[in-house]
Amino acid sequence: MDRNINKKVIYIFSMLNIVTQISGVQIYQAPSRVVAKLGETLNIRYGLSKINGIQLERLYSDVNQLIYKTPNFTDYYKNRWQVTPSGESSTYLFTVNNVKKIDGFIINATVTDDNSADSKTTAIALYDSDLRIVKYPLTVQVEDEKFDFICEFNLWGSSSINFEVMMKDRQISSFSTITYTDGLITLNSSIIATWDMNNEAFYCQLKLYKDGNDNFLLFKSKNPVKIKVEYKVRDINIAKDIKKDELICSAIGNPIPKYEWRMKNGTIVSTDSKLVIKDEWQGKNDYECTAWNIVKEKRNTLTKTVSYSKSTSGSSKTNEINLVIFYLIILLSVISV
Ligand SMILES: *[C@@H]1O[C@H](CO)[C@@H](O)[C@H](O)[C@H]1NC(C)=O
Ligand SMILES: *[C@@H]1O[C@H](CO)[C@@H](O)[C@H](O)[C@H]1NC(C)=O
Ligand SMILES: *[C@@H]1O[C@H](CO)[C@@H](O)[C@H](O)[C@H]1NC(C)=O
Ligand SMILES: *[C@@H]1O[C@H](CO)[C@@H](O)[C@H](O)[C@H]1NC(C)=O
Repeated sequence: MDRNINKKVIYIFSMLNIVTQISGVQIYQAPSRVVAKLGETLNIRYGLSKINGIQLERLYSDVNQLIYKTPNFTDYYKNRWQVTPSGESSTYLFTVNNVKKIDGFIINATVTDDNSADSKTTAIALYDSDLRIVKYPLTVQVEDEKFDFICEFNLWGSSSINFEVMMKDRQISSFSTITYTDGLITLNSSIIATWDMNNEAFYCQLKLYKDGNDNFLLFKSKNPVKIKVEYKVRDINIAKDIKKDELICSAIGNPIPKYEWRMKNGTIVSTDSKLVIKDEWQGKNDYECTAWNIVKEKRNTLTKTVSYSKSTSGSSKTNEINLVIFYLIILLSVISV
């Protein structure tokens, strides 16, 4: 009996706890980040669990400065910042028209009543201008060496950003550092040159996050820049043109590869990409192609060999005639037997 009473008391006590929590005022809607362009309008909305006053403070390196306490703005803000409605409410919309650099900071919004308090912070990021490429390699780069790719952007306040250097629509994996100095952010990427970057257009891209990870403004630098990369000869291939009795060697590289064709005994028979099989090289022979270029005073080579047999005489028509004659000879021999 006593136990049951105790249980009931505990039950009632926890019910009371829930009731007081519900009746306590809370901020259920507040943006974690807001983003606006200088000169445009900034809107910040708050939703409260009940009608109550709200207080906004500016957080700036541990010093809090009062912006607003229902129903008044402090002097510094009252001419430029507005709030709707002006009295106590469960929703507030703060508006700043013609937003300025000085409006970029973190806001701490607080609601208090007799038995509770709640607070939420909102980071304001203000941007201006385009994303600009300020440094990229003007000279020819060498494969496997690093180069700097630097972009700039004007941003004030407290922001969350992501910076990428792009080649066509592919993100170039790179090491990036971001430096903030008084409204100017420098985005410095250190990139390792690869052969497939040669002659490709590069640009930079910046994501400026609003509320949430999928919600951002995307900035792309204008006028992509082309990068030149010297690279070793690669991708050697030999094609056969049976009709013309030709072998065609191909490879890529920067500088453009040069070629050497060799017979099995080592004699160079052509320094062109194409090798015309001569009549005197009858039968099945091995032909070796070497493609080469010079990068940083070093000669790079790639070699590939093919077997090719040239028929007794060049044209396929005479081949057919030869075949007919061959069968005739067999036929004649059979008859003679
Ligand atoms: C708001 O400003 C009015 C007029 O200056 C003043 O009378 C009132 O006390 C202020 N309210 C608060 C909460 O500071
Ligand atoms: C915001 O203000 C409340 C009330 O003054 C305080 O308890 C809280 O620590 C503040 N938040 C920050 C991040 O300064
Ligand atoms: C960019 O970053 C690289 C690598 O961290 C560094 O070596 C270089 O000095 C930086 N360049 C500038 C202009 O900050
Ligand atoms: C190598 O072989 C080719 C074709 O058979 C011939 O023309 C050439 O004289 C040979 N060179 C040497 C050094 O034997």
